[in-house]
Amino acid sequence: MALWKSTGNGTLEGISHVADLDASKLTVTLSETLKPIPPPDTWQFGNIMTDHMVVAEFDPETGWSDPEIKPRAPLSLDPASSCVQYGTTVFEGMKAYVGPDGKPRLFRPDMNMARLARSAERMALPPFNTDQVLALIKQLIIVDRRWIPLLSEHSMYIRPTLMGTRMGLSVAASDHATLCIFLSPTGPYFRSGGKSISVLAVFDTVRAWPGGTGGHKVALNYSPGFLPLRTAQKQGYDQILWLLGDDMKVTEAGAMNIFIVVRRDDGDVDLFTPPLDGTILPGVTRDSVLALAEAHTAGEINLPGLQKTSRIHASERTFTMDDLSRWSSDGKLLEAFGAGTAVIITSIGKIGFKGEDIILPEHEGGLGPIANAFRTRILDIQEGKEVWKNWGVVVDGKTALTKTEV
Ligand code: COI
Repeated sequence: MALWKSTGNGTLEGISHVADLDASKLTVTLSETLKPIPPPDTWQFGNIMTDHMVVAEFDPETGWSDPEIKPRAPLSLDPASSCVQYGTTVFEGMKAYVGPDGKPRLFRPDMNMARLARSAERMALPPFNTDQVLALIKQLIIVDRRWIPLLSEHSMYIRPTLMGTRMGLSVAASDHATLCIFLSPTGPYFRSGGKSISVLAVFDTVRAWPGGTGGHKVALNYSPGFLPLRTAQKQGYDQILWLLGDDMKVTEAGAMNIFIVVRRDDGDVDLFTPPLDGTILPGVTRDSVLALAEAHTAGEINLPGLQKTSRIHASERTFTMDDLSRWSSDGKLLEAFGAGTAVIITSIGKIGFKGEDIILPEHEGGLGPIANAFRTRILDIQEGKEVWKNWGVVVDGKTALTKTEV
């Protein structure tokens, strides 16, 4: 594969033939002591890590190193590394569930791999073969399979991370990189017992802007939101509703894509989510919701709890805070929900804006019927209870998991 050649000062010019990432060259060093698995009710999102990780390094002269699975441990980074100084980190969020056959399953991993490659390219990080990254993820899942929770709605969260590791302060692309993949068993993202969350719509800070990186999964999309989030939480809201532009276009909710359900005059419902204009993350769950809505309305599937005859008109379209206020006061705003890998689907019950709250209809258990239909069907596919297209990808390991392994 043709890769970049370093000019020695961090700029990447020309091409040379160097080693591509190759999962067949994987070496595995198992940890001598395995950690006890804490009880699932003590897990918070991302606070428990498994025993092993994948590491591979890119050097512009030689290409990708032979990947390793080794005991999970801190990485050694020069403080002048590109990712430390200039934030050249991109990542993915994926999940593995155990199916009824005891085999781990990934959910549409090809979409995550394609997005990881796009994010890396956007941050001018070295390229890699995405099939090989996926093969490494599968190997790591097999090695750490005892950590995959067998409880429903629990899963193994997977964080493939690519960091620019060029040492030096010149403001230029990183021609060195480290790929690190690690795993974190996880339960429900919001521990609100299925209740809806509240969001505060903000217009003085923005998550993304035209021509920026909002459509990629780069670490720097997230950290600038921490301060506004803290401010929103002090005002009693759970998350931020990110707006953009003078017309206050609704873009995303927290780290999730947003959907709203609006009643139509013909009795059907519209399902709206903002279009992928470069400011919106092309979420895997987002895409799945749109595809399932289309399949339901075309009569190809029947979403759980919904009438076969109910029609959901899904479209990617811009909507503003004015639209939300109007639909709400007309009694047409039926549901709002966030979608993302970590949360799957979570309902939004209150939207704060300029000192007032838009209150959405309450539903028993938090989720409205449409949000619940998507959440149930997606989780069923993730947990291998339902098969839909090629969305569930079985990880064939040596042994199937049994309940005694938890
Ligand atoms: C995800 O939903 O997987 C995300 O990456 C969002 C957040 C946890 C960073």
